[in-house]
Amino acid sequence: MNNTIWFMEGLSSQRDIIQSVKDFAKQQHQEIFVLASHRHTRNEILSLADGAFYEPLEETLRLQFIDDVVRQHQVSAIHTGRNSAWFELHRQEIESFGVKLTTGATQLEQLQLADNKVAFAQAMEQCELPAVPSIYIESIDELETHIKEPPFGEIPLCIKPVKGIYGMGFWRFDNQVSPIALFNHPENRQVNPQQYLDALKAVEHFEPLVLMPYLPGPEYSVDMVVEQGNVIAAVARRKEGAIQHLEISGEAYELGKACATAMKADGLVNVQTRNNHQGRPLLLEINMRPSGGIGYTQHCGINLAGIFALRQLGLITIEEAEAQNNHFTPTKIRSITDSIVFNSALTNLISTDNN
Ligand SMILES: Nc1ncnc2c1ncn2[C@@H]1O[C@H](COP(=O)(O)OP(=O)(O)O)[C@@H](O)[C@H]1O
Ligand SMILES: [Mg+2]
Repeated sequence: MNNTIWFMEGLSSQRDIIQSVKDFAKQQHQEIFVLASHRHTRNEILSLADGAFYEPLEETLRLQFIDDVVRQHQVSAIHTGRNSAWFELHRQEIESFGVKLTTGATQLEQLQLADNKVAFAQAMEQCELPAVPSIYIESIDELETHIKEPPFGEIPLCIKPVKGIYGMGFWRFDNQVSPIALFNHPENRQVNPQQYLDALKAVEHFEPLVLMPYLPGPEYSVDMVVEQGNVIAAVARRKEGAIQHLEISGEAYELGKACATAMKADGLVNVQTRNNHQGRPLLLEINMRPSGGIGYTQHCGINLAGIFALRQLGLITIEEAEAQNNHFTPTKIRSITDSIVFNSALTNLISTDNN
């Protein structure tokens, strides 16, 4: 079968993506074959696919592994949500196997730009897209100076690593907050700035930080299907407490799309914005890969992962993809924690010589 798409190891939503792709293909009466692979025994993901592989652990074996699988299963398209830089570096070789490759970008530089939150904010401002004012902090002294003389007037400050993921290391500075607060309520992400400085001084290695004004919100997460910078479909999730509102219009939605275009994104990508005190959205970051919440978007009638897969396989036109917007219904969602039975043995596992 030629309608084969292969989802290689991703970051956080590989399972939802595979499920969405299969649902959409069925709904569209398209027969496709979905392969999935992972380096680890993520059987809850792999078991959903029509065929599954364990990827070699060593990077040096990956290219041969890809070549073998593509040839044996006549794979038309590969999607990767992880190790994107490696894939981008090997794009020519992988495409020479006769397969389309999606890494989130078309060039390594864009992946690197997306990975550096300060460089990203500057690049977006140069494209006249509003981004959160971002001060690059290279030393503890610099941070101390800014804390003594707050750079954004009355607006409280917050901080995060220049290269971060999963919200790790994001903290709001508050002089009033008790030193014990961060231990009792880490989820508030509030810390006394002096306490933060003391902690920094106690460690040897300093990782560059971004100092920003704390934006009141709301926050938007825009999930998109993009083809070489051209946004084919998009859904914005406005986050209000535990509820997310799915939307396909508005300033944040448009800013998200413009950002993906400016970054020449390619594939399933995600842009996050947050409203400033004037209620205008500012760019926080772009993830050149599917977001953890991409699967939630299908509740509004637009199946982004499905659209992506059928586009990659050449089974729907851009016009047909865009017409999916007609199925949109404004929807509120709430994410929950679920559980499934974990089978230690996969019944759909395909073995390759490499592992
Ligand atoms: N300037 C800011 N003002 C308010 N909240 C912010 C700001 N920057 C980041 N955040 C919060 O921290 C979270 C993580 O930041 P983000 O830029 O998305 O980095 P990452 O997800 O890569 O860790 C955001 O989703 C947002 O809730
Ligand atoms: Mg984020």
